[in-house]
Amino acid sequence: MFAYKCLLLLLCFAHLPPPSLALPFEQRGFWDFAMDSDVEGVMSMMRDEEEGSATEELPSPEIPTCPFGCQCQLKVVQCSDLGLTEVPKGIPADTKLLDLQNNRITELKESDFSRLSNLYALSLVNNKISKVHPKAFVPLKRMQKLYFSRNLLTDIPKNLPPSLVELRIHENRIKKLHEGAFSGMGSMNCIEMGGNPIANSGFEPGAFKGLKLNYLRIAEAQLTGVPKELPDSLHELHLDHNQIQAIELEDLSRYKHLYRLGLGNNKIRMIENGSLAYLPRLRELHLENNKLTEIPKGLPDMKYLQVLYLHSNNISKVGVDAFCPRVFGVKRTFYNGISLYSNPVNYWEVQPAAFRCVSDRLAIQFGNYKK
Ligand SMILES: *[C@@H]1O[C@H](CO)[C@@H](O)[C@H](O)[C@H]1NC(C)=O
Ligand SMILES: *[C@@H]1O[C@H](CO)[C@@H](O)[C@H](O)[C@H]1NC(C)=O
Repeated sequence: MFAYKCLLLLLCFAHLPPPSLALPFEQRGFWDFAMDSDVEGVMSMMRDEEEGSATEELPSPEIPTCPFGCQCQLKVVQCSDLGLTEVPKGIPADTKLLDLQNNRITELKESDFSRLSNLYALSLVNNKISKVHPKAFVPLKRMQKLYFSRNLLTDIPKNLPPSLVELRIHENRIKKLHEGAFSGMGSMNCIEMGGNPIANSGFEPGAFKGLKLNYLRIAEAQLTGVPKELPDSLHELHLDHNQIQAIELEDLSRYKHLYRLGLGNNKIRMIENGSLAYLPRLRELHLENNKLTEIPKGLPDMKYLQVLYLHSNNISKVGVDAFCPRVFGVKRTFYNGISLYSNPVNYWEVQPAAFRCVSDRLAIQFGNYKK
């Protein structure tokens, strides 16, 4: 069964799930099943083989090489939690998944992965890597997933393979994104780089130049505003747990394709009127735990907005036209979740008509304002 453990790959990008209001805006579990057809293919292949070969076979004489202490089976090489200080030698050349997490590796050298042109996913999570040779990843011509969280990197590694689809690099020490950090990548699904000490000044112009990206998360960093030059292809942007103070008119103008935007747990006092008009496709907006004193303007014009988190702000007034258009039929999808609790507004002071474009009364979370 060991092999299943290492197939628990991270799920970075998710399609719009049914929004669940009861739960706060939650980060996904660390290990989730990847829904990738590729990985699923490997898994079903493994299941077949496991079922077929119960006990009968003795180890065949031509055992393929496997680094000492690791387990190698069906193109999965599992070397986690071994106290390794470097990438082991003798990893089989046909390896698809290589798990090196929870070791003490400090450096990736030029030849560490030199034979692994079939590698699909590499996990280096929770090591002590501060140095990556600029050519270390060059042989990994088919790698799609790189999990590099919880290391000591100060920059995005150079020459990431153009085949890469998902990069998780949170909780490192990245303060700067150099120009062309993702050059040559073309199209990626997801970058998770929260938990790095990067401020707005750390984004060099052109850091994301040429990159098409669906999902980006830079939470728990040191942002004081929305970064200026993120990829304009983004569908999801998560900037929660930063120090953002305001959303100014142009801040969101690039990100016309967004359907989820996470800005919770910042210090936002003001969202300039007109800012939201740049996001015609937005479905989910998280603004909880900020310092807003009023409902953001422009919500009635957001045809597809369904989920709106505004709890734990300083909102004292909710006007009858705060959420819904005056004209029936303008809004294409009704809200199915609005959270307003922990604001200094009493629900009996809000006219019920304010919620005329909400699918269900239960979709409004008011609760009691305490002190
Ligand atoms: C916000 O801007 C729109 C047009 O951009 C304008 O029609 C509207 O009156 C403004 N609302 C407020 C409250 O300033
Ligand atoms: C909430 O807003 C009021 C003004 O409406 C202000 O006087 C007060 O200081 C604000 N409270 C916080 C905690 O920001």
